Parts: sequence; C-alpha cells; structure tokens
Amino acid sequence: LPETAEVKDDHLFVGGVDMVDLAREQGTALYVIDEADLRHRMESYVSSFRSRYENSDVIYASKAFLNKEVARIANQEGLCLDVSGGGELACALAAGFPADRVFVHGNNKTPQELREAISAGVGRIVVDSRIELGRVSRIAGELGVTQDIYLRITPGVEADTHEYIKTGCEDSKFGFTMLDDFAFRCVEDALAAPNVRLAGLHCHIGSQVFALHSFREAADVMVSFMARIRDQYGCAIEELDLGGGLGIAYLADDAPSSIDEFAECTTTAVKESCEKYGLDLPRLLVEPGRSLVANAGITLYTVGILKTLPNIRKYVAVDGGMSDNIRTALYHADYEPTIANKAGQARTEIVTLCGKHCESGDAVVIDMPLQTPELGDIVAVFGTGAYCYSMSSNYNGQPRPAIVFVRDGQARVTTRRETYEDLYARDL
Ligand code: LLP
Repeated sequence: LPETAEVKDDHLFVGGVDMVDLAREQGTALYVIDEADLRHRMESYVSSFRSRYENSDVIYASKAFLNKEVARIANQEGLCLDVSGGGELACALAAGFPADRVFVHGNNKTPQELREAISAGVGRIVVDSRIELGRVSRIAGELGVTQDIYLRITPGVEADTHEYIKTGCEDSKFGFTMLDDFAFRCVEDALAAPNVRLAGLHCHIGSQVFALHSFREAADVMVSFMARIRDQYGCAIEELDLGGGLGIAYLADDAPSSIDEFAECTTTAVKESCEKYGLDLPRLLVEPGRSLVANAGITLYTVGILKTLPNIRKYVAVDGGMSDNIRTALYHADYEPTIANKAGQARTEIVTLCGKHCESGDAVVIDMPLQTPELGDIVAVFGTGAYCYSMSSNYNGQPRPAIVFVRDGQARVTTRRETYEDLYARDL
C-alpha cells in the first residue's frame, strides 16, 4: 500500500485525497502516485546507503516509471538517473535533470542515441558490448570529448526471479560475458580505446529479486574482477554499479527485504570483498526502479460490466486493462485490488478483474478477493507504480490514462490523459 493510504467513511484516501472523488473528477483509468511515499523511499535509499558507505549514490531506474515530474523529484531528492535510450534521456533533459548525473543503458543504443547522449554531456555511458565500445570511442572522438564509461559485466549469478527478467546469468543478451575471459580481455580494449575513460563496472542480476544472497554473490564476483584488473593491468577501477532489482510486496503475504537490509547486504559485501582482495573502496552505486516507485502507485478504474459464470468465475470488467498494465498478461503478475468506495468492507468474493481489450488474456487481477462489486464502483489496484505506465500501449485505440500526484490533500495532474486526437496526430 502507498504510505498515506487510509480508509475514511468507507472511502480509500491516498495523500489525503478521496480516490472516489478523484476518479469522478479526472475520469478512469487513472494512475495515481503518492508523492510522500515516493519521496520517502528515495530519501531512505540515499540515507541507507550513505550512512553505511559514504561514497555511494542511488540512481533512479527511469524505465520503471518516467514522466517529467518524477525526474524533477528524483533530482530534488539528490538521485542520479538511469535512462535506457534517447527517449528517456530527452524526457529527463526536458525536465531539467542535470546531464552529468545521467547514466545511459541499453544493449543496442543506436549510434544516433549515443551521439545525443555524448553531446548532452551525460555522466556515464554503460557500454554493453565490444562493438559499442568502438562506437562510443569513435563518436566521442568526433565530438572532441572524452566520455566516462562503465562496462556492463554479466556476473554469472542466477537471480531467483521470473525467467523474462533475469539478466545476470550467462545466457543473456546483456553485457560482456565472463566466459572464456572475454570480459577481462575487453577491459584491456577499453583501457586502450581513445576518447573514453573506463570509470567503472556495472552489473544487474535481475528484477523483483527476493534473495539478498544473489546481490552478495554478484558484488563478490565484481570486486574480485576489479582485483584482477588491478593485478594484471595495474589500473584501479574507481566505481562499481550493482544495478537494481530489489523485490517488493505485491501481495500482503510477500516478504521482500527492506531497503535498509538491501543496503546493509550490498555495502557489507563490497567492503568485505574489498578487504579480502586488498582493494580501496570504490564509489558504490545502485539503480533501483521498482522498489522506489511500485508501491507509491495505484491505478483507479470504473466497473462497467459484471459477468458471473456459476462455479467457474466472476468477471468484473474495468475501463482499462492490458493497455495500462501488461504485467498480468505478460508475467502472470499478482496484484491486490480494493473497491475505493467500499474500502472499509470485507473482501468476500473471489473475482477476476478483466480489461476491455479484445484478448482473453487481458486481465489486471486474476482470482483475488474483493468486496461485492457493483456497476459504477471505483476499483483501486495497488502496487502499479512501476512498469505499468512505462509499458503501456494504445492497444484497441485506448488513450493512455492521466497521471496524478497526490500529497497533503492536493491532487496535481502531472501527465494529461491522451486524447483521441493524440492517437492519430502522427498519421500523415
Ligand atoms: N538497472 C538495469 C540495467 C535494469 O535493466 C533494470 C531493470 C534496473 C536497473 C531496475 O530494476 P528494478 O530495481 O526495477 O528491479 N518489466 C519488468 C521488469 C523489467 C526490469 C528491467 N530492468 C516487470 O514489469 O516486472
């Protein structure tokens, strides 16, 4: 639940705003972000790391959720920003995010995207392959600058998560493999390449990870790799970015580690490994997305159709679905819903919240308890702040919902709802 969620007179309030009133004013489907929750998580990430490890920074992984307002908030809270390509970079720059605190990711950034990033003066480019190393070196040369880079290493650590979002194991499209010492040999290339400076190393083992030991193992692999680089190439790698991935609770019974436990685990692992290999402590970075924003977000829908199949299932159709939240169709993701205008009542029925799209797999919530639904009810689905808006589509000509930030009883539209005209504005 968002931090400020409360029930008053049977209505769900977030940020001091009545979600039923907000749905009526703004229409549904609607994304709502609890600004206090988001800011507190950002603060607690920064302070959990800095209090244990002075030379550390937290990078907000904007792929989880990006609009200009969240970029401004991340900037105000002192975070850096991870962008996955030219589009996210453009949004960040338009929001006034300082380019020198931007980290650029992606396994196939186009030469054009690299040029945009380098000319904008981004802080670090996370180089994903040997081919890309050559491209960055050449483009930086053409632009007459020296670009700070990281190399993304695949540490060969199996994270305990969904197949589609595992990234650290060897069979991955991402990063430099350590097999056959490939990554190690590429470090030599990076050190020799003109117009780039090898500032650090990066790894990311996966997302929605519950088992902290995977992060500890990855940290140890990376630090031992840094020690080999020092021994063989006589070069100190100054920065280590351990990626994102901390899991969150989608259901009441989920028990992920806290931000504090994650910070304790990773900072201890890095310190212990550095001690073991006799290395100076590098600058340490992490780049969380989901664990910053998922729980701060909810989606509001209006119930439009009820269909009961006796002994089979009760379908509650809402005015959105896979266009605003593809995660259920894609990963069988679980969410907890409540009826915002009956929030104080017991959830006595098991229902499937289906969407309005022309696919049977179009569901937001499958077989979960809900209060007795009626037409016109406002349903709130929790935990939708990450990877819902950012993965949204216009399937079936569905305009994207507006995004409203709520705080201290005030609601602010930070992204307006798409219009029908927006849908064909680019058609010639
Ligand atoms: N850094 C890199 C290089 C990443 O690829 C990711 C996520 C992150 C950081 C942030 O990870 P987080 O802290 O959010 O777990 N669409 C999927 C998640 C894909 C994650 C992709 N990379 C989902 O909806 O579950």
